[in-house]
Amino acid sequence: MIETTISDISEHIGEQVKLSGWAYNFRSSGKIFFLQLRDGTGRIQAVYVKNDLTDEQWDRLQDINIESSIRVIGTVKQDDRSPTGFELGGMDIEIINLSKDDYPISKKEHGPDFLLDNRHLWLRSNKQWAIQKIRNTIIQSTYEYMNDNGFIKFDSPILTPSACEGTTELFEVEYFDSGNAYLSQSGQLYLEAGIMSLRRCFDFGPVFRAEKSKTRRHLTEFWMMDAEAAFVGHDENIKIQEELIIKIVKDVLEKNSDELKALERDVEPLKKVKAPFIRLTYKDAITKLQELGSDIGDSDDLGADDETMLTKEYEKPIFIERYPAEVKAFYMKRDPENPALVLNNDLLAPEGYGEIIGGSEREDNYDELLERIKEDGLPLEEFQWYLDLRRYGSVQHSGFGYGLERIVTWICGIHHLRETIPFPRMINRKTP
Ligand code: 4AD
Ligand code: MG
Repeated sequence: MIETTISDISEHIGEQVKLSGWAYNFRSSGKIFFLQLRDGTGRIQAVYVKNDLTDEQWDRLQDINIESSIRVIGTVKQDDRSPTGFELGGMDIEIINLSKDDYPISKKEHGPDFLLDNRHLWLRSNKQWAIQKIRNTIIQSTYEYMNDNGFIKFDSPILTPSACEGTTELFEVEYFDSGNAYLSQSGQLYLEAGIMSLRRCFDFGPVFRAEKSKTRRHLTEFWMMDAEAAFVGHDENIKIQEELIIKIVKDVLEKNSDELKALERDVEPLKKVKAPFIRLTYKDAITKLQELGSDIGDSDDLGADDETMLTKEYEKPIFIERYPAEVKAFYMKRDPENPALVLNNDLLAPEGYGEIIGGSEREDNYDELLERIKEDGLPLEEFQWYLDLRRYGSVQHSGFGYGLERIVTWICGIHHLRETIPFPRMINRKTP
């Protein structure tokens, strides 16, 4: 008998196989027992006929409860009525472990708090499974793109002495006798050191924001991919982001059609994610928003509602570039055509999803950067190493950071970021 997985079942039509997994559902007519099995790679139904089994085998089936771990032995049949295309003719069943109690998650509707309290179990459900599979494709696809385009993985630290993205959202930790350290908000500043050695670098890991905001787009711990490249200016930086996002969407469409179906994701909007994306200046975006009825001021940062409103106007992702310097971070290079602006971009995902990437050309001039650090009241000693990068062989360079959960949320077409990370951390939740 062949031990295999549901993902490989099509290679075994007509053969007897053994599958290990969990019983996610079952029903019995008294003569026929329908067992729904999931094994991590997929889902399949096994159909047992009482007359074909010994009494002992039939009794063993009756013991099964929801989420028991089991081994199913049966013959693989093609079955066009089944959503997976296959069915097992059940021949035997082995019980690994019965569930000790009634499984808390049932088919009825549960509220989000109940599901989040049971996140360790909720992860087994079909949609949560599909989301994690798509998340994995996005991660793999990102590594592939970076690797194919000369970016070297460069692991930036998580414990840091200072802020990267403003001081209001920092998690502090005691650091022995030397005062406080902060959990990193983005590895960007360290990547800027990396590229002076390796030319192009990226990191990919957890970052932390002590966000007081309780929105569906904010987590306090999330995964960011930061990319940084020497000898790259604003326009090329935008081109890299566009290529990366196009590859990610294409790969998910190719590899995860079953998962997208499980999520009932309409894939038509995803198929429209092709070059060139829309490009708007910040100024044009504000004018457009005001026309659409937003009360946004002439130099306000875009709020989540503004992003949603704007992305509903276009079918493709939107780059918004050249924001007023005052609403953006100290390290962004000023626009030579208008020093009140910076050479930055956000990338907004369509269908109302909003910001998924923030990027910019970086200030490479020593004196200008020193000025910005002072203006922002940042601790100068902590930034001496960062200024060194402009003291010794400074070059034009640019980079960006994407929020993994924002991208997963958009591509999966779901509402809230909390479902895209295995164990979400939010202002009011740090368990399980
Ligand atoms: O726009 P942000 O703050 O940019 C940076 O941190 C830069 N240092 C990145 C760089 O240039 N290397 O964050 C980048 C992205 C955002 O576009 C968004 O997708 C995501 O990170 N993000 C969040 N995701 C979930 N929860 C939050 N609280 C987030 N804050 C930002
Ligand atoms: Mg941003």
